[in-house]
Amino acid sequence: MSQKKLIKSYVLRAGRMSPLQRKAYETLKDTHCLKYEDKLIDFKKIFPDFTSNYLEIGFGMGDVTHAIAAQNPQNAYLGIEVHSPGVGKLLSEIESRGLKNLKVIEHDAVDVLTNMIPDNCLDGIHIFFPDPWQKKKHKKRRLIQPEFTALLSKKIKRGAYLYAVSDWEDYAQQILQVFSGEKSLVNKYSDWAEPQLWRTETKFERKGLKKNHLIREVFFIKK
Ligand SMILES: C[S@@+](CC[C@H](N)C(=O)[O-])C[C@H]1O[C@@H](n2cnc3c(N)ncnc32)[C@H](O)[C@@H]1O
Repeated sequence: MSQKKLIKSYVLRAGRMSPLQRKAYETLKDTHCLKYEDKLIDFKKIFPDFTSNYLEIGFGMGDVTHAIAAQNPQNAYLGIEVHSPGVGKLLSEIESRGLKNLKVIEHDAVDVLTNMIPDNCLDGIHIFFPDPWQKKKHKKRRLIQPEFTALLSKKIKRGAYLYAVSDWEDYAQQILQVFSGEKSLVNKYSDWAEPQLWRTETKFERKGLKKNHLIREVFFIKK
């Protein structure tokens, strides 16, 4: 069975775009988005001036995505998201900030990883506040499961990292357990990771903090 059939981790809602997001979405897609294709991408062609490539899955409105890219102009970043208002928002930020090191793919990350990302090519993967799918019957829709984690690990270089953050305690526990069970990975910390100070606050993190949720960070390295 393909990964796609195993996990459908999102529901596409007809989210309303602000006029700014719509304009950015319509005018900047060709410049800053990569089209989804069943074909491996060549990072050297997309980012000829960079040697380190990082991926973010489910960037939401992309506030952390452009902040990290702006703070690290020596690295290249690829953000994946299925929610078009977020894509529009991030495109407008890429343009207004003149970011040359950040591109976007609007598509299911499971397909993108399976079909577009070469093995052993990424320096790090970020997954910040993945959808928690709280109800028991929905938990199978959570993105971070063993098979998907094996896929993530296959895509990163030796010594590169997988970094996930969640404010849902039982999902955070699941992430820690699943990453720990992937033989190609080792926890950089003995348990929960120390907060990575270079990561700025995300929209969903703010929501979680308002509900007094604990923010759990998980940071593993490929052996
Ligand atoms: C809870 S939100 C978190 C957004 C952002 N990272 C934040 O912290 O504010 C999860 C995001 O992941 C996206 N998402 C879920 N599954 C995805 C998939 N398979 N491929 C791409 N994006 C996905 C959703 O559309 C949603 O925007």
